[in-house]
Amino acid sequence: MGSLDGRVALITGAGRGIGAALARYFAREGAKVVVNDLGTAPNGSGVDASVAEAVARSITDAGGEAVADTGSVADFGDARRMVATAVEAFGELHVVVNNAAVEAGLGLVDLDEDTFDRVVDVGLKGTYAVSHWAARYWRDSAPPAVDRAIVNTASGSGLLNPLPTQTNYAAAKAGVAAMTTVHALELGRMAVRVNCVSPSMVRTRLTEHVPGMPAPVADGFDPTGPEVTAPLTAYLASAGCPLTGQVLSVRGGTITLNRPWPHGPHVERHDRPWTVAELERELSTLDVGDPYADLAASLQGALGGKGAFASRSALQDMIEDVLARARAAHAG
Ligand SMILES: NC(=O)c1ccc[n+]([C@@H]2O[C@H](COP(=O)([O-])OP(=O)(O)OC[C@H]3O[C@@H](n4cnc5c(N)ncnc54)[C@H](O)[C@@H]3O)[C@@H](O)[C@H]2O)c1
Repeated sequence: MGSLDGRVALITGAGRGIGAALARYFAREGAKVVVNDLGTAPNGSGVDASVAEAVARSITDAGGEAVADTGSVADFGDARRMVATAVEAFGELHVVVNNAAVEAGLGLVDLDEDTFDRVVDVGLKGTYAVSHWAARYWRDSAPPAVDRAIVNTASGSGLLNPLPTQTNYAAAKAGVAAMTTVHALELGRMAVRVNCVSPSMVRTRLTEHVPGMPAPVADGFDPTGPEVTAPLTAYLASAGCPLTGQVLSVRGGTITLNRPWPHGPHVERHDRPWTVAELERELSTLDVGDPYADLAASLQGALGGKGAFASRSALQDMIEDVLARARAAHAG
């Protein structure tokens, strides 16, 4: 008996990396899976239908149930069709996993409109589009839908790690986390739970060249293997899971409940408006946090940092180097 027996799941970006691992894991747990993937390069260029088809075939070859869908989550009509595909193939839709994303990093001064739009269209608009059509399907279900689940995909970038060159990606991922809580509240009455998984340092084509990424573990638990987020995602997708509106990060075997943008230290006065001079004085007493310190802390792997940075100027040098490398990679 699997944890997802009888569940029908649409998983976007399921032709490679984390999504492909999710699709296979879900199928092994008894789900019927729509394997969606447009088959793009990491930066979103190109199309390859064989990517989704190969994963769907590997599932059916292993005795599971799956169909391929080769639409783009960023295309509103395609998003509608992938929901319809699940219903046509398997008679129902219980779970949506919004996993598709692309990355194209550039510093703000180099970032052109197309590169901004491409990343935000897949990661942010794509999550909205697929969830929108699934929610409309569930709203119109008769008898009313019960125990439905959406699992979104965020990233430490946008939530925790301030990584240079990620204007588009960080904004998309922070937006996905924000959407998660909004949708959890809006869809509660329709018995749809909405949660978000935030992977970190999972070995896929997006991260395999990141300095510090450990080599695969041949036998036993691989803490950076593509399947590392699958058990949590399956739990969030399973019937009876009580969680909704949560963002959970996964790094190896550690699962952390994230509370993005929590209330921090504060100052207050209620008798009259603040003056600028008072704010200057009072805010200087608070621990306001330091994005450079946050970056230094997140460098292990994420940007190829080599441990402790002696000074802010050394960190700034490293940032300039990252920006220049992104510019060169984009030009090439
Ligand atoms: N790998 C990590 O460490 C890591 C860290 C943080 C977040 N994430 C997130 O996890 C998710 C999966 O990432 P991954 O590392 O497996 O990446 P990946 O590039 O290996 O897989 C992403 C898949 O999405 C597909 N795709 C791209 N555009 C699409 C579109 N418009 N419609 C449908 N499919 C499309 C691609 O073809 C690709 O197969 C992403 O949301 C990513 O942002 C990954």
